[in-house]
Amino acid sequence: MLILGIETSCDECSIAVVRDGKEILSNVIATQIEEHIPYYGVVPEIASRLHTEWIIDVYTEALQKAGIQQHDLDAIAVTSEPGLVGSLLVGVCFAKGLAAALDIPLIGVNHILAHLYAPTLEMDVVYPFLGILVSGGHSVICKVAGYNDVEVLGTTIDDAIGEAFDKVAKFYNFGYPGGPAIDKLAQAGDDRMFHFPIASLHKGNHTYDVSYSGLKTAVINQLDFFRRDGATQEEADKPEHIAASFQRIAVETMMRKVRKAVEDTGLSTIVAGGGVAANSRFRSELLAIPNTTALFPSLKLCTDNGAMIAGIGYHYLQDGLVADATLQPSARIRAFQKKFINGGT
Ligand code: KG4
Ligand code: ZN
Repeated sequence: MLILGIETSCDECSIAVVRDGKEILSNVIATQIEEHIPYYGVVPEIASRLHTEWIIDVYTEALQKAGIQQHDLDAIAVTSEPGLVGSLLVGVCFAKGLAAALDIPLIGVNHILAHLYAPTLEMDVVYPFLGILVSGGHSVICKVAGYNDVEVLGTTIDDAIGEAFDKVAKFYNFGYPGGPAIDKLAQAGDDRMFHFPIASLHKGNHTYDVSYSGLKTAVINQLDFFRRDGATQEEADKPEHIAASFQRIAVETMMRKVRKAVEDTGLSTIVAGGGVAANSRFRSELLAIPNTTALFPSLKLCTDNGAMIAGIGYHYLQDGLVADATLQPSARIRAFQKKFINGGT
């Protein structure tokens, strides 16, 4: 079965053709990064306009690269939640029109589930596993028992981890997007030059939750205060030290909760996804957790892409989870509640 997957939830305009939820025939990704560089972040209005301008070309290229005609398609899957609502709307409207014109099923896909499905396109992934989704919009730790069976254990109570990378990079002029720029700079830095604070959320229902706004503010506002004892201004005043010290704490914040979740759930497979899963420190620390196997999709499937939408769309279709012309995009995810393995909700 050939499924078309459309992804326009943020700044990637991507369309893919995937056979039977597994075999990627094409995965065209047109990134808008260049267009958002002057603003050090995604400007929603620009993003949705560009999706509108680009989507036909991306679609045409996806069919060409897959070597198929549009009448060969069996269904259209599209990210319908969560994301920037204007951007989502472009993909959803396009998908609706296409599904109606070709008279084939329309499938509205949850972007978070799709990220967690992405590694399945490249390797054999056995459920259940501990899913870690770290991106510009999300920091989620969850138990994944099936493509559509996810129990969220923890999430961020404020900023997402990728957002913290992007904001710190914006302040220091490290470049955009901030994650790769900081990752690169940090290679040459002393990660203990600055002792930035680590948020400690362990009470009540926050066992697996993270917080990044305090770290972000500390890095931006109070550098002198956090400098390592005895370091001179000249020693400390190097961007690579700031990058390395920030990255150490940003990753450790997440890792503490991941280690706790591994301990409490007993799950031995960890699957990571989202843009920050490309981070070299994050990868090596996940790989170092004893008695576990950490799986990462390749870079192209870590960040937003149509293949993961088409891939998971196949399973939605098999299970009869199809949408109709009333499908609406949603900035947030409905019915995706956090549950706790230690009781309570
Ligand atoms: O998954 P993604 O492409 O888009 C969504 O946010 O859904 O993730 C983008 C995020 C950005 O915040 C970017 O700075 C971050 O992923 N990122 C990284 C790295 N590569 C991308 N963060 C840390 N280290 C990296 N190497
Ligand atoms: Zn994403």
